Amino acid sequence: MRIAMFSTKPYDRRSFEAAPAAAGHEILYLEPRLAPLTAPLAAGAEAVCAFVNDDLSAPVLERLAAGGTKLVLLRCAGFNNVDLAAAQRLGMKVARVPAYSPHAVAEFTIGLMLALVRGIHRAYQRTRDGNFALEGLLGFDLHGKTVGVLGTGKIGAIVARILAAGFGCRVLAHDVHPDPGLQAIGVTYMEPRAIAAQADILTLHCPLTPETRHVVRAETLALAHPGLVLVNTSRGGLIDTEAAIEALKSGQLGGLAIDVYEQEADLFFEDLSNEILADDVIARLLTFPNVLVTGHQAFFTAEALGAIAEVTLANATRVAAGEPLGASEVTTAATVPHRA
Ligand code: NAI
Repeated sequence: MRIAMFSTKPYDRRSFEAAPAAAGHEILYLEPRLAPLTAPLAAGAEAVCAFVNDDLSAPVLERLAAGGTKLVLLRCAGFNNVDLAAAQRLGMKVARVPAYSPHAVAEFTIGLMLALVRGIHRAYQRTRDGNFALEGLLGFDLHGKTVGVLGTGKIGAIVARILAAGFGCRVLAHDVHPDPGLQAIGVTYMEPRAIAAQADILTLHCPLTPETRHVVRAETLALAHPGLVLVNTSRGGLIDTEAAIEALKSGQLGGLAIDVYEQEADLFFEDLSNEILADDVIARLLTFPNVLVTGHQAFFTAEALGAIAEVTLANATRVAAGEPLGASEVTTAATVPHRA
């Protein structure tokens, strides 16, 4: 199958070229992001391969369809950037990689949490400048703290287990489908408002849907313990960033660690170090000593990249052979993904 891959970085190309499943496919590696203006680059390709910040809105899908594209291969788990109704109308199949390495994201989440509450990111900067003072780095133990986990699917469940079994945290969770395995290890399910009122730390692992957009907003933050630490490795749109900034300024929010950001499409995955930052919201976030921002790297492990390439290409092979996509298929009925 001829596949036009958008937003290609050198590491994407390396992992796809190394994947045994690449045999039989012709991949056109394109650096631009998929957008209305770049969609014609895929003309003649039966499939496009897209990533988290590619635009798969109706106008883009229409242009792709006009160029002969019949399949969207998402090389990620989330599919909030795809207009599924438009894809269905145009007869386009949409496939994703439902689980490449939930451990990669879960472990990174714990890393962010620890770095933030112990000031590891600041200590790294300080010691390189010969500053070995501890003032300003006072942290707190995770052991015995109450952590809220919003969304206990593949990633959230691993985070909840690490926190409960590894650190001895009290874990409160919310999910539209509670996990009995987590309940068996003492995780307590409750409504998000009750979690917000009790948690010392809140970590987000539900998908971005119309119901979960701005699930953390001014009202949620007002309910929280003063000094709540918030971690988001899921999707930026789960947090009302302006409300988070106000809560950071007042001290209601004691720390924020984010790997995702609502307006990340114009920033993340690019080296902008020689440019003037035009986004005042992220610029303000970066001024807080208790904010830690990473550029959507939670998934970025060797294991995950290998699995993404294998599953994405296997999805292409299945469609080429007229076989069903199984769990990788994304349909309008699956806008709220469940555990398989
Ligand atoms: P999953 O589909 O296994 O789990 C999501 C869970 O959220 C499910 O248990 C589902 O029932 C629950 N859920 C859905 N709607 C909800 C609601 N309104 N309230 C509470 N829970 C709700 O997905 P997985 O693999 O755990 O991934 C979670 C999210 O992590 C993805 O949606 C994706 O956006 C993000 N992600 C981020 C990555 C990164 O590099 N930062 C990499 C991979 C995924």
